[in-house]
Amino acid sequence: MQSFAPIKEKLFPAAAAKQIFGLIGEELSLVEAEFQDQASSNIQVINYLGDYLRASGGKRVRPALLILANYAVGGTGNADNVIRLATVMEMLHTATLVHDDIIDNADVRRNRTSINARFGNHTAVLMGDWLYMSAFQTSLKERSLEILDILTRLTRKMTEGELIQMTLIGSLSITENDYFDILRRKTAYLFSACCEIGAILGGATREEQTALANYGMELGVAFQLSDDILDLTSDAEKLGKAAGTDLLEGKLTLPLISLLQKHPELKPRLEKVMLDGDYAHLTREELKERLDTNGTLNEIKLVAEGYVDRARKSLDVLRESEYRSCLEDTLGFVTKRNN
Ligand code: IPE
Ligand code: IPE
Ligand code: MG
Ligand code: MG
Repeated sequence: MQSFAPIKEKLFPAAAAKQIFGLIGEELSLVEAEFQDQASSNIQVINYLGDYLRASGGKRVRPALLILANYAVGGTGNADNVIRLATVMEMLHTATLVHDDIIDNADVRRNRTSINARFGNHTAVLMGDWLYMSAFQTSLKERSLEILDILTRLTRKMTEGELIQMTLIGSLSITENDYFDILRRKTAYLFSACCEIGAILGGATREEQTALANYGMELGVAFQLSDDILDLTSDAEKLGKAAGTDLLEGKLTLPLISLLQKHPELKPRLEKVMLDGDYAHLTREELKERLDTNGTLNEIKLVAEGYVDRARKSLDVLRESEYRSCLEDTLGFVTKRNN
């Protein structure tokens, strides 16, 4: 029998994100309340898991983007429907994390035991599904086919991203094109959709809507690039999730694709890490050192900066405002973040 013991792990607020989104702190508190509402059910186990997930925090980047985009085009960022849709985006994100942790066999998420590790894969699959469907049901309140179209397309793309990634697990011949294709689908489309939906709800012009959708896309790419860098360079305590796992899981991310282009002789050793599922023959320290000394890490950071620059340029069509400035600051946060 599965037991659902009281939740008592220590929670870690995502301090840096809180600071950057201080401008919309009140709106984000409304999102928390709405999340509590949307993730509640008269079915006890769902209530319990919903609470477990919601209370674990997270940076809340996606709802923040929706709200900021809405304000930036002249919308009332704290209107009921804006808060509702911002929460929908966080619920969709949470659903993808729950499923992603099953696929990646991850034990820790946001500094606490992942749903799959604590309650098993069956519970996690179903809870992820429940979150997806609840998010869709709530989004229907908007009665907007345009928004529904974005959300459906996005969810399909995210699933495709995870599936394509699975077909390339363990491959040492993955190309940069493959990598970026996966990354756009699994991460960037969601960022783009947050900004675009915020813009639509704010009554944006076509030009503003496209600009914000592009901003979100470029930002999303930079965000996943830095997640992949952090996986190689950071540690579990800072990340709130395991580090060094991409390679262990057989995923070659851009820094390693680039390293292999320069040093193909490293191929067998990287392959051994994947096959063994540990760093016994090539330590994380040595790998980091190699990425550092031959300039690969800097090179990938520059690639991420390129996306950030393009995202910043997209904002040019918006009138100047504190919300637009906050969208600009978010770009700096994404590449300099350490969790
Ligand atoms: C994690 O997203 C998944 C990726 C796209 C890399 P976040 O880093 O936004 O996770 P939380 O919500 O803050 O935990
Ligand atoms: C992002 O990929 C996953 C999703 C978009 C759900 P990762 O597998 O790198 O995300 P983390 O590192 O587990 O958060
Ligand atoms: Mg993962
Ligand atoms: Mg990752």
